[in-house]
Amino acid sequence: MQTFAKPFENPAGSPIRELFPYLSRPGIISLAGGYPSLSLFDTEGLAAASQKALMDHAASLQYGATEGSVPLRTGLVQLMHSRGIGVDVNDILVTTGSQQAFDLLIRVCVEPGDAVWVETPAYPAAIQALRLAGAQIGSVPVDEHGLDVDALAQLLQAPGAVKPKLLYTVPTFSNPSGALLTQARRERLVALAVQHGFLLVEDDPYGELQFQALGVKTLCEMGAQAHGKASPVVYLSSLSKTVSPGLRIGWMVAHADILRRCCIAKQTVDLCTSPLAQSVAAHYLASGRYGETVVRASAEYGRRMTALADGLTAALGGRLRWFKPRGGMFMWVEIVQTVDAQALFLAAVEQGVLYVPGSAFYPGLPNTQTLRLSFAAPSVADITEGVQRLARAMQALPG
Ligand SMILES: Cc1ncc(COP(=O)(O)O)c(C=O)c1O
Repeated sequence: MQTFAKPFENPAGSPIRELFPYLSRPGIISLAGGYPSLSLFDTEGLAAASQKALMDHAASLQYGATEGSVPLRTGLVQLMHSRGIGVDVNDILVTTGSQQAFDLLIRVCVEPGDAVWVETPAYPAAIQALRLAGAQIGSVPVDEHGLDVDALAQLLQAPGAVKPKLLYTVPTFSNPSGALLTQARRERLVALAVQHGFLLVEDDPYGELQFQALGVKTLCEMGAQAHGKASPVVYLSSLSKTVSPGLRIGWMVAHADILRRCCIAKQTVDLCTSPLAQSVAAHYLASGRYGETVVRASAEYGRRMTALADGLTAALGGRLRWFKPRGGMFMWVEIVQTVDAQALFLAAVEQGVLYVPGSAFYPGLPNTQTLRLSFAAPSVADITEGVQRLARAMQALPG
């Protein structure tokens, strides 16, 4: 009988990937995945970038440097500047999606038994990566205004509290809560990280998908401004939600000591991120089409979010609680009555609509009356119909 490494003796798979089989049901409407809309991919721009990438075959078809190609990192430096973050090429490690960036960071920083705290509800693949690393995962609650910094301060001061090595958060349009962390909370959060000596992992794949002006700074910018090279922030981002997840292009910005170690860890993971994908991404960024693509996507996602919010108000107003996100792809919903979101899920599948039950987003005891709806991939018409189906599923439940 094969024996396995401890974390893989009895591993739980991704709760979201387990929903995949339902997606193939004829006529199903999915409000489940965090997928960008197929109709919003800039295929023309990506085709031109791919053509250029192939013409430069000595770079794109050969192995490349583990830290990432200089042309792509140059494009990402400009992108980071547009987000208010002053970095240079050496401050960036290109990764195979931002998921890999988080995984590398954990390899480098977390040993079994180390305390790592995550905002809760949290992105499930972050929880999964931490579980496989054997971290002691702690929860910090999130409300409509993002991570609850008062609760965090209390947890840090609790008698006998083991302080975390890392705190993971998605401050801008979180997955799954959709929340935007306020500027005042951001300031407090960076200060708490410095005071208590933990790394603040800012995962930012959605920050550019804004439905209105934000008025907040990234934790990364604030950390660098206040603390320079001693900033506690590790910043992760991705082209997955704005350009294409198929490219698998993400990146990390961190202190040189962290970046160098993550680069060494990456050498044994995949040698380098696909040079072909990097070259396509670099040419795409250089083409100047990125800005327009993001503006178009944000406007469409804003329309879809409004359709979802209006539909929920009309069909399920008194029965669900939610707030309108100001960007991103997700709406976090709480069922007002005592209805288990897992039971509702089965009724919803019967009616032909999918969502993700909230229990997927808790490292510990879940609030079983919560669920995540994504408005990014389905059309406005499908969202409207999906909400009707959800309302019928709710009616079909006893009680
Ligand atoms: C919060 C968050 N972080 C990271 C990722 C992974 O992104 P990537 O495709 O860059 O690996 C996702 C994807 O859903 C996400 O929602």
